[in-house]
Amino acid sequence: MRTIAINVEKGGAGKTTIACHLAWLLADAGHRVLVLDLDRQCNATDALSDFESLGSCKPLFEADYAAPDELPRLAIYSNRMGGEYDASYPTALGNVRKNFPVLNPHFDFCIIDTPPSWSWINFAALLICDHLIVPVELGPFGPAATKQVSDSIATVNQRRTKPIHVAGLVPNRVRPNDSHQMKMLEALKSKVGKNLFTHYLPERAHYSQAIQEHVPVWRFGKDVRSSLPPMRAFLEEAMTRIGSEK
Ligand SMILES: Nc1ncnc2c1ncn2[C@@H]1O[C@H](COP(=O)(O)OP(=O)(O)OP(=O)(O)O)[C@@H](O)[C@H]1O
Ligand SMILES: [Mg+2]
Repeated sequence: MRTIAINVEKGGAGKTTIACHLAWLLADAGHRVLVLDLDRQCNATDALSDFESLGSCKPLFEADYAAPDELPRLAIYSNRMGGEYDASYPTALGNVRKNFPVLNPHFDFCIIDTPPSWSWINFAALLICDHLIVPVELGPFGPAATKQVSDSIATVNQRRTKPIHVAGLVPNRVRPNDSHQMKMLEALKSKVGKNLFTHYLPERAHYSQAIQEHVPVWRFGKDVRSSLPPMRAFLEEAMTRIGSEK
């Protein structure tokens, strides 16, 4: 199972849009896909209505987790922990690290959608993932958020045997006619180099509209000539960057 987390400590950056489209891409290619929706907003859970619910992700953070006897090809655990989850966080992190590999034989991919602000649950996502995709908005606070992610990666890497593979930063909601954004894009490129995706996601209402209808943009019943090619190009690049290694 290859585990891909989508994380940035910024609300509305595109984590859920990307997580859902990646999950649908892999599902449509016939893979067995598990989604961990670790955000209590549960937006990915609402969107991915074709994934079978495994209920709350809470058991993954508790001792003696056992995988369900029957696991569907497309499954989703959601952060429906009900109020504040009052576990001892170090214990919960230790448990999830031990429990998560139990799911390894059952799925080809796991996609983790994460909440927008830092918490132990984001720590867990970075602890158990193999690969990380970071969406970045070319707005006033977008680049600052990527600095926070790199600090978080450094912190979590101290607790991992193998460092997180950063698949890359993907600019989202890009408006190519906006010269200010284009300058920010150039600045970001010179700062992060190859860590920046070549393909970005433009601002397209179809991405929101498709998610609202619980389908990826390629199953959306509208003329998607301007929205589908950039999404496809980004997803292809993401899978190339992730590669076949765990
Ligand atoms: N490229 C885009 N073009 C147009 N709308 C977009 C684009 N990307 C995301 N959106 C919309 O912006 C909003 C925020 O996106 P999304 O939910 O994916 O972000 P998020 O990082 O998961 O947010 P949160 O931090 O709240 O979980 C959503 O309404 C989504 O449909
Ligand atoms: Mg989200």
